[in-house]
Amino acid sequence: MRNILAVILTLFCANVFSQNTEVELIPKPQSIELKTGSFKIDKNTTIYFEPEFEIAENFLQDFLQSGAGFSLKKASEKEANIIFEKDASQPSEGYLLDISNLKISVKASDASGAFYAVQTLRQLLPPELEKSLAPKERNKSFLIPQLTITDFPKFQYRGMHLDVSRHFFDKEFVKKYIANLALLKMNKFHWHLTDDQGWRIEIKKYPELTAKGAFREETRIGHYEDKPELYDGKRYGGFYTQEDIKEVVAFAATQNVTIIPEIEMPGHAQAAISSYPELGCTGKQIPVATTWGVFEDIFCPKEETFTFLENVLSEVIPLFPGEYIHIGGDEAPKLRWKNCAHCQKLIKDKNLKDENGLQSYFIHRIEEFVNSKGKKIIGWDEILEGGLAPNATVMSWRGMQGGIDAARQKHEVIMTPVSHCYFDYYQSENLDEPVAIGGFLPLKKVYSFNPIPDELNAEEAKYILGAQANLWTEYIPTEKQVEYMVFPRALAISEVTWSGPSTNFEKDYPDFFSRVEDFMKRLDALNINYANYLYEIEGKILKVDGKIFYELTTPTKGKEIRYSINNSKVEVYSKPILIEKDSKITANVFKNGEKLGRNFSEEIKYHKGITAEISLNIPPNPAYAAGGKEALINGISGSDKRYGDKEWLGFWGDDLEITIDLGKQMEVHSIKTRFFNSPGVWIYSPKEFSISCENADGKKVSYLKNIKLEDQNKISVQVDLVENFSLKTRYIKIKVPNYGMIPDGLQGAGHKAWTFIDEIIVE
Ligand code: ACM
Ligand code: ZN
Repeated sequence: MRNILAVILTLFCANVFSQNTEVELIPKPQSIELKTGSFKIDKNTTIYFEPEFEIAENFLQDFLQSGAGFSLKKASEKEANIIFEKDASQPSEGYLLDISNLKISVKASDASGAFYAVQTLRQLLPPELEKSLAPKERNKSFLIPQLTITDFPKFQYRGMHLDVSRHFFDKEFVKKYIANLALLKMNKFHWHLTDDQGWRIEIKKYPELTAKGAFREETRIGHYEDKPELYDGKRYGGFYTQEDIKEVVAFAATQNVTIIPEIEMPGHAQAAISSYPELGCTGKQIPVATTWGVFEDIFCPKEETFTFLENVLSEVIPLFPGEYIHIGGDEAPKLRWKNCAHCQKLIKDKNLKDENGLQSYFIHRIEEFVNSKGKKIIGWDEILEGGLAPNATVMSWRGMQGGIDAARQKHEVIMTPVSHCYFDYYQSENLDEPVAIGGFLPLKKVYSFNPIPDELNAEEAKYILGAQANLWTEYIPTEKQVEYMVFPRALAISEVTWSGPSTNFEKDYPDFFSRVEDFMKRLDALNINYANYLYEIEGKILKVDGKIFYELTTPTKGKEIRYSINNSKVEVYSKPILIEKDSKITANVFKNGEKLGRNFSEEIKYHKGITAEISLNIPPNPAYAAGGKEALINGISGSDKRYGDKEWLGFWGDDLEITIDLGKQMEVHSIKTRFFNSPGVWIYSPKEFSISCENADGKKVSYLKNIKLEDQNKISVQVDLVENFSLKTRYIKIKVPNYGMIPDGLQGAGHKAWTFIDEIIVE
């Protein structure tokens, strides 16, 4: 919108708060028409609110009082300068905002629409109002640009999640988190209250849940795939009393945010079973988990367990006014159920097919109970396995497929695929990022998200209620780090869910990005610890007429890139750099001679494959295909930790065959590649694979080797395919069978494994 028009305001009065106003709203409204001139708001401005719009009125008055030192006087609908009136023709949650020099008119059909009009007005006011102004700046007047905005959300469910089990965040921080959602016109807060590492909600009937289950003896240090395993030796925990919960729920109502509490079952229940061992299959005392991952001890579906869960839900349900209770349902390994006499008898007695059938029976029973209390359940997409409960809403996280299947079964869906919505993933390729769970989800990829999969027709697509981003906190111990992981990516999920997915990415993303740069002033005023990678550099290999070039770009406008190649003289970047040998590029962004952001560096291996052609029997999974098939021979290796970057390619469950055509017979001495191995996220390097080299006629095999991979303990498995060898070849073929279904006892048991492969280096 920066491009539409920058409204330059004239300061016609010394008492006007100086501001250089550009209309830079996030999320972007559906339509905006800018005019010249402005409306002046000060302590004499009068306002009328339709009584039904109390939530909007309270928000605006509190915002002005705390930021500007005044609130607005009330006047009649006829006389007020700012009028919020009801107009049944406005869409649900939408509003029409018209600002002229003497009047602001807002029309909305419901209180949410009026509330979101206030959020827009808030973003049209200077960011300084987000904090209390210094006394001498107070009681001034503020200018709002004249414009007309027509706005409404594309999706009714616009959510963010927070895991308070892996790390606990107190009620004041949770309120701040919710307030930040309101700023972005998001309306659902999914509060993940129970898990293996801590039970966080007081249940009066079962005091041990918080006396015992809210505390763990110690916590794993570093990444949970690091060896050796290290622990901090410090007792850790905390919980919310029911009074705390009521306070947060009441606050959320003032922000137009509905809270969806999650009580996990039948898996992720170790803290509960630790408090009441009879809830498990073995009856044995187990500790609250001290490390991360998926645990075998899950609720045993006996009558006592159902009584317990119904009693818990009977205390939870009245605390939360929203229509949904999230019952989890994900990652429940079936090992204990397979070895439990009660579970096996239940499968027989109820005529269930297997343990998946038992999981489905479990969820059905809980759904019936929750429905009987007038609420609906949401479950993670595993609740599809063994048959969906009749009224369940599905949260599709393992990808989009669960959501597609559920929509086709006429069930409502919230999309939250790991590929685009997991904010616990790395967001930058910079090596000094704080340790994260893995993966790579930059702002750009979040912005590219479309919650409606192509596979669904228009009728089926109606079942997609919206999307949510999740913040799992295994590696996020502090409030500051929560904010770092959430911002600015939350701005992108807000725009995807409110404004709608981008239909012209090349044009929309730069526009969004420039608004993000501007929005950071507001985040600063709100004291939000956002990640700032506005001044990062992105590098890309280009192939032109058989030659290799390296292109450098930085996402914000008006900056200069200076680079050096192999430590040579620093030069100003003007065009892609010709690469003819192994090269190390270092670079920085400058503005007016001042260095911004962090150092960039990339190593390019100029190997024999770099100018070759590559083909694959199947395309990579679209969620992990950022670099395309060429990424396997572009001279650049992927990160050791971020398999979602643009160098690794991911394939889910499929056998892979790669053919590299060197263009002519060449002498080859060595071929190497790497596989990623991260069982916690179901990535398993293959057990074995083969490589063959063929002559120019494409027929005669001159070399064939089958390789077994034995030590799969490392995160990335480097393999030498051809070593100390000399052969002439034109075609190189590599067959990589998928690891297969993940067996019991390993992370991701019962699911297809992912294969991730990196650069194939031919020398
Ligand atoms: C999940 O991430 N286990 C829902
Ligand atoms: Zn059992």
